[in-house]
Amino acid sequence: MKKWFLFLVAILGLTSCDKNTQRAISDERLSEVFTMAEHQYVMLDQQLTDSTMPRTLNADGTLRTSDLNWWCSGFFPGSMWYIYEFGHSQTISTMALKQTQKLEKLLEMNTDHDIGFQLNCSYGNAYRMTGNVTCREVLVAGARKLAQRMNPATGVIRSWDFLRKGWKYPVIIDNMMNLELLTVGARLSGDVELGLVARTHADTTMKNHFRPDYTSYHLVNYDPETGEVLSRETVQGYADESAWSRGQAWALYGYSMMYRETGEARYLAQAMNIGDMLLSRLPDDGIPYWDFDDPQEEPLRDVSAAAIMASAFIQLSEQSGNMTYWDMAEKQLCTMLTPEYLATPGTNGGFLLKHGVGNLPEGSEVDVPLTYADYYFLEALVRYWKHEG
Ligand code: GLY
Repeated sequence: MKKWFLFLVAILGLTSCDKNTQRAISDERLSEVFTMAEHQYVMLDQQLTDSTMPRTLNADGTLRTSDLNWWCSGFFPGSMWYIYEFGHSQTISTMALKQTQKLEKLLEMNTDHDIGFQLNCSYGNAYRMTGNVTCREVLVAGARKLAQRMNPATGVIRSWDFLRKGWKYPVIIDNMMNLELLTVGARLSGDVELGLVARTHADTTMKNHFRPDYTSYHLVNYDPETGEVLSRETVQGYADESAWSRGQAWALYGYSMMYRETGEARYLAQAMNIGDMLLSRLPDDGIPYWDFDDPQEEPLRDVSAAAIMASAFIQLSEQSGNMTYWDMAEKQLCTMLTPEYLATPGTNGGFLLKHGVGNLPEGSEVDVPLTYADYYFLEALVRYWKHEG
């Protein structure tokens, strides 16, 4: 390891948020974190093949990879693009492009709604950074593929093709995130139909997925012939009637994103209603319990939900002018920047954040690093850095 990097290791963690300044996270601190992130991600890159992506850590601390079809495959290249956006390192942009291009085959392989996450986080950021024409073509082709999953009788895109527990047409709140590929695809191709599919899905979800208090169900099961709602349930949360934290985070981010992409006031109102609900329920340090309704005294925290919320809250503060959203994002980021959540350089298998919860009811990825926690953490830090005011 280079001497200057060891020096950095020594000073990291000594500087943290300064709540007495207008911006609690200084540019110097951001720079330390992005330098550390580059080293961590180079470490991860070296352990991959042409057909694998990082997923999490095994119990023995070794890297667990996924195949390219896993819903998270776009987050690793996407994180590299954010690291590049901050620091402009050629090393990281070369790696980011290589990792992004591995995903082109998803245009043939993918069979669910997650092509939105997979291609928009990788190719979407690659196109934003480079303007590369091939990236644009992949994004438009991916959007067309995703749009084919819309069934006009339901007014929503089908999330999964597999069926459990009597499902006929399952749609999860996570699907709000995949709509960005459609709006990007519409913009890049001029095909307004893609944008219409995104709006239709967002409107139907607003009608059927939310409780009166603006918490969201995880899964709504539709009748594909009539569009009738057959059941509302959870898959990854504590109970059918509970508020699974990451689902709430996807909802907040999804409607804020749809407002940015369409300018439709109803999406801003929905995002603010969800945001206000979250402000009233988040713990003092801003990091949500994995499910808001887990009755245990001290349930596990889910840093991935915190990172998604922080990124969304920064954008929502800019969209609404309401600085309470900014304050919450800053608090969440400050907590994530403490050693409790942020890895020290050279540890955590190359991942940045600790304490993510993937799927607790199935005992899968519990209290571990997760690629999407890192991705939205880096996105939030870039948004924080670019924020004017
Ligand atoms: N299915 C995406 C998630 O676990 O949030």
